[in-house]
Amino acid sequence: MQFTHAIVRTPAPSLSQGITSANLGQVNFEKALQQHANYVLALEHLGLTVTVLPSEEAFPDSTFVEDVALIFGELAIVTNPGAASRNGETISIRPALLKHFANLLHIHPPGTLDGGDVMWTGDRVYVGLSSRTNRVGAEQLGKHLQNAGLEWAVVEMAEMLHLKTGVNYLDQGNLLVAGEFIEAPIWRAFHQIQVSPDEAYAANCVCINGSVLVPAGFPQTASAIENIGYRVVIVDTSEFRKLDGGLSCLSLRF
Ligand code: GLY
Repeated sequence: MQFTHAIVRTPAPSLSQGITSANLGQVNFEKALQQHANYVLALEHLGLTVTVLPSEEAFPDSTFVEDVALIFGELAIVTNPGAASRNGETISIRPALLKHFANLLHIHPPGTLDGGDVMWTGDRVYVGLSSRTNRVGAEQLGKHLQNAGLEWAVVEMAEMLHLKTGVNYLDQGNLLVAGEFIEAPIWRAFHQIQVSPDEAYAANCVCINGSVLVPAGFPQTASAIENIGYRVVIVDTSEFRKLDGGLSCLSLRF
């Protein structure tokens, strides 16, 4: 998969009121803004044209733009996020997507689905059933995918917030796995890079055109990725981690 574009959203001052289970302390908003700007620069250095959407104060989690839309080649789908406080984030993503895609499909209630629960390997789309994504939402997505000729599979989950909290596809068959996904039969066909519990946050990396964005502070995972031939780009996301947000959550890539 080659990427040329990304969409991100500037964090709002309300960021510190975002949903979290992390218990890592208060978000430093100025630092979050700087980290976000550095993240955008990293995407640009990897050759992407980045659209930076304005902040949305009414939606503290709206910088985690990956959850509100899905993009598979020419197919763009607006999700229906599972957390009530995030539901209205879908309104302002539509015009941003319509600049790039002629038609948008949607996930409708009672289906719920967060983009963080969806992982595309190129061959197949994996959809995690989490506290945010229900079976109705997954099946709606499945129909859209089938109509576009894409294979899909459901992934049962027990512990992680999102599917991509614990499993992320790089490319060429390489998969980062952590926690409940280590040894899970569904990933048997992949070359797995197992992320140790003390570095579990780093299971959420983003592969962009052969380089991998890795969060700062996880040297074993960075080395493991480098050792299988990737160029590693370190990005500090400590303020977003305080809100359960990973690297992939901060952008839509296409
Ligand atoms: N704070 C990110 C989320 O819970 O959706």
